This record gives sequence, C-alpha cells and structure tokens, in this order.
Amino acid sequence: MLKKIKSDTSTVFFLDKNIVKKVYSKKNFKKLEHEIYFLNKLYKYNIVPKLLKIDYKNRSIYLENIGERINSKNAPRDWKEQLIKILDIFKNERIQHRDLKIDEILVCKSKIKIIDFAESKVINSEISNNLSTKSRFSDDRHIIEFVDFFLNALLQCYFLITRTEYNINNVLMSVL
Ligand SMILES: Nc1ncnc2c1ncn2[C@@H]1O[C@H](COP(=O)(O)OP(=O)(O)OP(=O)(O)O)[C@@H](O)[C@H]1O
Ligand SMILES: [Mg+2]
Repeated sequence: MLKKIKSDTSTVFFLDKNIVKKVYSKKNFKKLEHEIYFLNKLYKYNIVPKLLKIDYKNRSIYLENIGERINSKNAPRDWKEQLIKILDIFKNERIQHRDLKIDEILVCKSKIKIIDFAESKVINSEISNNLSTKSRFSDDRHIIEFVDFFLNALLQCYFLITRTEYNINNVLMSVL
C-alpha cells in the first residue's frame, strides 16, 4: 500500500520515483496557492523541494522527495550552520515560516531542506493578507534550540537503551 501522512490540512502520498504528492483538503484550498508562492520564491536557494507539477483541480502539488525528518542518525554535523543560513535567507526575503518544527526539517545526503509553507508570511505584503493572524510560532529562530534539545534527547534515549541491553524496565529504573 502507498505510504501516506494525513493531517488536518493535507494528505501527503509517497509515490514512485522519489515524488511526493500533497493533496489539500477542501477547506484549505487557499493554502495550496500560498505554498506554491513560497516554493517558487525559495527554489533558487536550494533549501526547498522542487515543485514538479500543480494540479489545481485536485488541490494537489507534486514535489521532489527531499528525504526524512531530521533525527539523531541522519542529522548532518553542520545542521546548526545550515539552519542558521536558511533562517538568514528567510530574513533577507522577509519571510516568516511560522510553523517550523521537526516535521518540517528534512535531510537527504547531509543537506537540510524545509517544507510546508502553508502558514508562511511575507512581512508587509499582500500575499499574507488572507492569512489568519494566529500561527504556532512568532519567531522562526526558536527552531535552533528546539532541534538541539530534540537531537540530544534522542541520543540520551539511545544511550540508555543500548547501555541497558534493551531492557525497558532498566531504562525506566534509570530515568525515574
Ligand atoms: N517533499 C517532501 N519530501 C519528503 N517528505 C515530505 C515532503 N513533503 C512532505 N513530506 C512528509 O510529509 C509530512 C507532512 O508534510 P507537510 O508538513 O507539508 O504537510 P502538513 O503538515 O499536512 O501541512 P500543514 O502544516 O499545511 O497541515 C512531513 O512531515 C514529511 O514527513
Ligand atoms: Mg507540516
């Protein structure tokens, strides 16, 4: 069966040939245009997936598959530098992503790229006029500390589990 990830806003299907299809739900149709705008604007920086095809009729976009969510195994050594550069590009382009979390940071061959611009905004621009003012994060820079914390927590869990020979009781004993 085709692998898929469903959220309130969309369903992401993993197709053959490294292609991802993102289908927006009916009530979120406007976000599709939004996403297209930012993917086009940022493509020249090589920090977002390539937009391969747009199918407005079926509320879908086809994207290049840009890897897996960042984790302690695939995180490149220079993940922080890469993320800081990406945030600088956002700043220069006056873009706020506004929904940056682990799910939006993907890694392929040590290269970090960002997805999901459905909630993004260009500061003082009409592209953002139809956006609700609420966003999960008002400052994209929170993500550096967040990833740092997440990767460390993963490493700690991994260390605990391997040190205790996968015995979950031992792991709990050493945490509690
Ligand atoms: N281009 C891509 N390459 C690889 N995986 C992807 C790609 N786009 C999406 N994914 C996977 O699908 C998941 C959901 O994608 P995305 O965040 O774009 O959708 P969403 O969360 O439904 O969007 P929204 O925030 O608008 O609800 C991502 O966390 C990622 O695992
Ligand atoms: Mg998302």
